[in-house]
Amino acid sequence: MLLLAVVCLLCLWSPATLAGGVGSVPNCMPRKTVSLKSNGGHSFREDGVLNYTTMLVREDLNLLILGAREAIFALDLANITSKKAMMKWQVTDEQNDECVRKGKDATNQCKNYIRILHKKDDGTMYTCGTKAFNPTCGYLSWADGQLVLEDKQEDGKGKCPFDPFQGYTSAMVDGVLYSATSINFRGSELAMTRSSDEIIRTDVTANWLSEPNFIHMAHIPESENKPEGDDDKIYLFFTEAAVEYDSYSKVDVSRVARVCKGDLGGQRTLQKKWTSFLKARLECSVPNTKLPYLVQDAFHLCPGNWRTCVFYVVFTPQSDSSQSSAVCAYGIEDIKAVFSKGKFKVPVKVETSFVKWLVYTSDLPDPRPGACIDDYARSKGINRSLDLPDKTLQFIKDNHLMDQEVKPLGKRPLLVRTGPAFTRIVVATTTDLNGDSHHIMFIGTKSGSVLKAVNYDGEMVIMEEIQLFESSQPIKILRLSNSTQQLYAGSDAGVVQVSVSKCGRYDTCLDCVLARDPYCGWNLDTDRCSTVNTSHRDSSVIQSVKEGNASRCQQLDNSKPVNISFFLGNTVKLWCQPYSNLAQVEWHVNGRPIKASETFQILSDGLMVFNASMDDNGHYTCDSIETVLHQKYRTRHVAYDLKLWVGTGTTASLHDVREKHNTFIAMVVILTLMLAGLVIWNLYKGHLPLPFCPRGPMNRSEVDHLDGNRTGDHKLASSRNMNSNNNHLNDRRCSDFKETDRLATTTGSTVHVSLQYIDDESEI
Ligand SMILES: *[C@@H]1O[C@H](CO)[C@@H](O)[C@H](O)[C@H]1NC(C)=O
Ligand SMILES: *[C@@H]1O[C@H](CO)[C@@H](O)[C@H](O)[C@H]1NC(C)=O
Ligand SMILES: *[C@@H]1O[C@H](CO)[C@@H](O)[C@H](O)[C@H]1NC(C)=O
Ligand SMILES: *[C@@H]1O[C@H](CO)[C@@H](O)[C@H](O)[C@H]1NC(C)=O
Repeated sequence: MLLLAVVCLLCLWSPATLAGGVGSVPNCMPRKTVSLKSNGGHSFREDGVLNYTTMLVREDLNLLILGAREAIFALDLANITSKKAMMKWQVTDEQNDECVRKGKDATNQCKNYIRILHKKDDGTMYTCGTKAFNPTCGYLSWADGQLVLEDKQEDGKGKCPFDPFQGYTSAMVDGVLYSATSINFRGSELAMTRSSDEIIRTDVTANWLSEPNFIHMAHIPESENKPEGDDDKIYLFFTEAAVEYDSYSKVDVSRVARVCKGDLGGQRTLQKKWTSFLKARLECSVPNTKLPYLVQDAFHLCPGNWRTCVFYVVFTPQSDSSQSSAVCAYGIEDIKAVFSKGKFKVPVKVETSFVKWLVYTSDLPDPRPGACIDDYARSKGINRSLDLPDKTLQFIKDNHLMDQEVKPLGKRPLLVRTGPAFTRIVVATTTDLNGDSHHIMFIGTKSGSVLKAVNYDGEMVIMEEIQLFESSQPIKILRLSNSTQQLYAGSDAGVVQVSVSKCGRYDTCLDCVLARDPYCGWNLDTDRCSTVNTSHRDSSVIQSVKEGNASRCQQLDNSKPVNISFFLGNTVKLWCQPYSNLAQVEWHVNGRPIKASETFQILSDGLMVFNASMDDNGHYTCDSIETVLHQKYRTRHVAYDLKLWVGTGTTASLHDVREKHNTFIAMVVILTLMLAGLVIWNLYKGHLPLPFCPRGPMNRSEVDHLDGNRTGDHKLASSRNMNSNNNHLNDRRCSDFKETDRLATTTGSTVHVSLQYIDDESEI
């Protein structure tokens, strides 16, 4: 129920974007909402163990290696409920005492949080934990059904954070660990490090980074098939305090930085420091927001070779005033171009102490500062970074920031959504029935759910929002397995595994085809929505992902009416639950459309008939209309014959209903006149907040105007609005409103209130 409360989502697109045609309007509401109970997943948690936030998918061993607090687990990749092994890795008493003596909290901070799990080329694993502010690493292997940690352990300083609450990221490339984390106990010194025999890192004393928070690291094999003989790169995504703005208050910005894999540092200048560390601002600008959005997670997908790599990055606002999160995608060639061709931005002292950041327009030293050793450098006799001339090194010692920012593909976000903040992202690829490949995004949220979304030529489709944890548990890690086609999600409380697609959730042909899920198609032979594969490329399966064309579906007729009897003055609820959040519901009585009135209130899951009288006898029908790219699809969900009861007792009619309930949930709740009266009285008296969207005097009159002459009828106005919140995606009163922030919170509480209201009634 609560999940439904999230359904009032707002498109933050400017009218100009909206005018760009239907294809460009991002559909910011998930079409289906899947509850915690019905997610169909497997889960895992161990008593007494918390913080399941590190994962390594081992498809070669069929295992999910899971790092938690003071423990590492080996779970069956196909069914994580099945635990294969557990290894405790706890802090010793001395370590705990030492940590507490240094002023840290014993119950939370002085524990061993597993932070790093990487596979090595020989099949063993490398792991690190915070070990009570004493980061430690070790070699882990899987042998005879057991996880074994070698006795020989290493200092994890510079690889793993001291503080479990501090940001970190790492990558294993050719058996060498690259990491970005704090390197001291206080957490004040932060660096990007390569832990090779010669440790290479960013210069901590020279402010290469300013208060960074590290997010993600990725190795891109750019040396492959490269005519210029370029090197592989390691990209780092992070946020930091902006230095380049003339701003009195601190502003954070999102950055991408990169180093070359073969960088060995300089000979005299920049000894054991990166000679190739360059950084640029990542732009993901959301309309109507001022401060830059901050990167939260990134995932890269490289279909084919590295030139096709795309980074999918989630962003959230840095001030609390805006509630919307965004996803931007960046092409590797765009990122690369900024670093290899862009101008530098350099600090220039103006007046005594004031520093201004300006574009560096003079000639750059040769070879270009920050460039990897390529054929050009080699042609000049420079075979390693150690051979770089001092002029190049002196420049790159002080200047790392590029002037140009990296712009997202399509120059704007793929997705913007108001609601619980996005936390994590992974992206899967799949092929539809036509053989076209699609990128399916799985976006974790702060409220324990995952959005499944896809972009069709600029049109954003959110197929589902699946609740995986209680809404108080943010998703802290997401992983995909290609071999099992499963998604693994971790939170502080546990781990859940769900299939990347569950076509069985789509009940009817219309539901299945309008879902536009490239994993699913309607099979005419079996009359089921099922997973498509290439052998299905015949006419017996209907799928239309880009157009959402369901014209080949046969119309269902569920119109055999359910008989309902009521007593004079009863409040009757007629249930009707459309299968899509995007559908509009239409009720008719004896063929006439029902409008909200003193008698009728249209809810997202049914129709309320207040103070029923003889006049309310009749044939009631509930249809839903789903519109996909201007095409409307109507479904008759349920029909009722409502009759005033002239005999005694109500049980007979209830029984009748249960029996006749077919494809769609149909149930009747008969409330006593007294209780209905109580609710109305409460609404009237304002004891229950009135669900306006948005609130305020201006709106009040607008509603009154829309409802014609019935000024001052509170119940009436509220019912109209409840209906629009749930069913009208492009409700004018929502999308034309400029103060999006205020609107977001108001609508949020609106839906919540309306749901409470419904809950109250069904409990009676
Ligand atoms: C570990 O989980 C607990 C319980 O949810 C939470 O209070 C704590 O902040 C988590 N610790 C870290 C380092 O995330
Ligand atoms: C998953 O594993 C658990 C524990 O071993 C078992 O009880 C459950 O039946 C398994 N589920 C499936 C679908 O295999
Ligand atoms: C670089 O390599 C080339 C060819 O291997 C060699 O001739 C040259 O001396 C090397 N230069 C340096 C500075 O080591
Ligand atoms: C995923 O697995 C399929 C077969 O199981 C394979 O054809 C495909 O290349 C794999 N994709 C990736 C990205 O590994």
